Amino acid sequence: MTRRKIAAGNWKMNMEFEEGMELARKVSHMDIPDGVEVILGVPSLYLKPCVDMLLHVPKVHVSAQNCHQAKKGAYTGEIAAGMLESISCPKVILGHSERRAYFQEDNAMLAEKVDRALEHGLEIIFCCGESLDTRKAGEQNAFVTNQLKESLFHLSAEVISTLVIAYEPIWAIGTGETASPEQAQDMHAAIRSFIAEQYGQEIAEQIPILYGGSVKAANAQQIFGQSDVDGGLVGGASLDAEQFQQIIQSF
Ligand code: PGA
Repeated sequence: MTRRKIAAGNWKMNMEFEEGMELARKVSHMDIPDGVEVILGVPSLYLKPCVDMLLHVPKVHVSAQNCHQAKKGAYTGEIAAGMLESISCPKVILGHSERRAYFQEDNAMLAEKVDRALEHGLEIIFCCGESLDTRKAGEQNAFVTNQLKESLFHLSAEVISTLVIAYEPIWAIGTGETASPEQAQDMHAAIRSFIAEQYGQEIAEQIPILYGGSVKAANAQQIFGQSDVDGGLVGGASLDAEQFQQIIQSF
């Protein structure tokens, strides 16, 4: 079956307002192949103006980079899923390894965030991925599948089929080191068959699985060419309009 193809940029905590809006404007004018969706994971402050700017740009959508697991309340500095819904932000990235490492997000907390996001109709890009030590020990598949099991497998088949999963080996994020196309394909196939075991092949075949970790214009085509790789979650290279355009063209 033909799955959705996705080129997602994760700006992280980069770019000041005018710079960010200028980049979003450039992306809104980019040439995007048929069947490809572009997602911009922008800082929270820029979500509303980006949503407004991209309202009539059919193939480019905005995503938050996180939301809180509580519905609302005394959580200074945090953003609730309902707030994202209230500004028509359609998507949220959850479980990025930087959130897990620096903000103590564990699988149980992420299961709660997933539920809140779904309650507010947000499409989730759920990140998973192992550290270098885990890979050296040969335990990467068990580690990643456990992340999915503990945060996602309480969902019904109908609901999990709406998710996007991003496999991002921690050792490849922002390091310039990329998983080889074979390493990416092996893990993506393992993730898909793990989902198939739980939910059946038909559901597993519907879920786009993105690769993240030093995707660049120079390696995107090879990585996206793997049968179980449906696109990328791109950090550094998504900040450069020219590179991001080339990545979008790499399917
Ligand atoms: P990178 O980041 O492309 O800069 O490695 C990817 C990510 O963390 O989403």
